[in-house]
Amino acid sequence: MLIEIENVSKTFGEQSVLRDISFSVPKGSFTILVGPSGCGKSTLLRMIAGIEEPSGGTISIAGRVVNDVEPKHRDIAMVFQNYALYPHLTVAQNMGFSLTMRGVPKAEIAEAVAKAAEILGLTNLLQRKPSELSGGQRQRVAMGRAIVREPVAFLFDEPLSNLDAQLRGQMRAEIRALHRRLGATSIYVTHDQVEAMTMADQIVVMRGGRVEQIGAPLDLYDRPANSFVASFIGSPGMNLLRVRVGEDRRALDFGAGRTWQLNGIAPAVAGQTVLLGIRPQHLLLSTNPDDPEVVVESVEQLGAEQSIIALADDQRLSIVLRDRRPIAPGDRLRLTLEAEGVHLFDLDSGIRLRAEAVAA
Ligand SMILES: Nc1ncnc2c1ncn2[C@@H]1O[C@H](COP(=O)(O)OP(=O)(O)OP(=O)(O)O)[C@@H](O)[C@H]1O
Ligand SMILES: [Mg+2]
Repeated sequence: MLIEIENVSKTFGEQSVLRDISFSVPKGSFTILVGPSGCGKSTLLRMIAGIEEPSGGTISIAGRVVNDVEPKHRDIAMVFQNYALYPHLTVAQNMGFSLTMRGVPKAEIAEAVAKAAEILGLTNLLQRKPSELSGGQRQRVAMGRAIVREPVAFLFDEPLSNLDAQLRGQMRAEIRALHRRLGATSIYVTHDQVEAMTMADQIVVMRGGRVEQIGAPLDLYDRPANSFVASFIGSPGMNLLRVRVGEDRRALDFGAGRTWQLNGIAPAVAGQTVLLGIRPQHLLLSTNPDDPEVVVESVEQLGAEQSIIALADDQRLSIVLRDRRPIAPGDRLRLTLEAEGVHLFDLDSGIRLRAEAVAA
């Protein structure tokens, strides 16, 4: 493990912003901290960088507890959202800045800068000023500045949030490719779950100063530990519907006589109201008259698929159909559940409930 976070907490005055945070970052991994605004991601990253001090717990880098180690002795480079480039310096001077400050010989700096520029495709822009660059190019310079230091780890705080959607997509791929080339350990903060899904080896999902779940992107997608992770990971988000599990553990009733029969699985609870988690892609059109009907509220035709919002009494469902049949507001759709897509959560705690496979 390159970086170990153990029982770390942080309070600002009376306000507790991080509680009992523990996770490890394997050497060479790309770990993403994701969660809603204000959940404490930046504070945690700043503590790893050494800009902020933990109120409790320990942070170790390469086997050494660094709680009392100055940022400049942690051998870590941080890339921020706003790039923080020096406007009066050229790209080359910006990239070499930290080496210049350290008194590294000029020839060595030029070599390090040239190498990083080559990797980042900035070779032809080295003499420009930041104001003469596009947003994506500025972001690359900010990364170049981190790379020339050859740190043991890179920390990124929402580095793409100032870019438009298309450029963000491109830079995502570039940062991943860069990570593979350098083999460097990276911790990357975002509140964008798509970034987390597409870039991470490991995702740490946070909410309200706590860790909700840690795992590989598809593990979180396929087996969310609770209803928060279920609704946060995946786009469009997972539907969460209140349903009553029948006494026979076969039926899920979601009001007004609408009932789904479960096929092949049985919840571990009976006769109880729970949250059914079902992704929009796992609601399928049905011709079985026993399946429940919902009423279409709105339809977006996206070409490859239609994104539909439908109502079942007071509960709203999102449905994604890979199908071009004309569907209009007011239409009734009969729906069935894809068995592999069924998740059940405790109504109060949101914690995932067990379900067992049974003969269909
Ligand atoms: N220096 C500070 N003094 C007091 N409170 C702070 C300080 N820094 C952060 N906070 C509070 O700590 C909480 C977590 O802030 P933080 O910046 O870590 O959130 P975040 O997850 O990075 O959010 P965002 O996605 O909006 O960047 C917030 O409630 C914030 O107001
Ligand atoms: Mg932040």
